[in-house]
Amino acid sequence: MYDNWEDLEKSIVGCKKCKLCTGRNNIVFGVGNKNADIMFIGEGPGADEDRIGEPFVGKAGKLMDQAFKGLGIDRNEVYIANIVKCRPPQNRTPEQDEARACLDYLRNQVMLVRPKIIVLLGSTALKNILGEEYAITASRGIWTQKKGILYMPTWHPAALLRDESKKIDFWKDLKQVMSKYDELMSKTV
Ligand code: URA
Ligand code: SF4
Repeated sequence: MYDNWEDLEKSIVGCKKCKLCTGRNNIVFGVGNKNADIMFIGEGPGADEDRIGEPFVGKAGKLMDQAFKGLGIDRNEVYIANIVKCRPPQNRTPEQDEARACLDYLRNQVMLVRPKIIVLLGSTALKNILGEEYAITASRGIWTQKKGILYMPTWHPAALLRDESKKIDFWKDLKQVMSKYDELMSKTV
């Protein structure tokens, strides 16, 4: 673990810890406020993210941006990262060995950001962060507290593209995040 961003960012350059290194154009490390109170964790880069080197800039990212706008969040206020930093082929789900190999980077990011709230976007984020026993359908919308961080699992934005009805849940879950955030903020002043 690194106690500063510079060393952490340097440590990932040219990473070959898993087989996803062979297909990537860019490592998608993470973006946003490095002292954010709210952090979002997705699955892994898609084609657009791989090309640009930034998380959630493609179709799913556009949906996130819409939600951010509706909630009054500025994308630069939060921190956004993924379970794996390199694009899985054909956007398949990251395999367990890949997620495991990459997870230390994310843990280090969480350690440095020190968010109060982490939004887990979809099953891959949920299972890799809170445990394999968690299922997204049963867990979404429900707070879990672990080591001083509050976790809110919700649908992955790509799931909303496949099933419009999930947008309602997604919105509800993010509304909960914002009211919790307001509650926490009102306690600290
Ligand atoms: N989907 C993800 O999980 N992460 C991204 O960065 C983009 C799409
Ligand atoms: Fe390294 Fe993570 Fe990329 Fe695998 S996905 S090569 S562990 S940065």
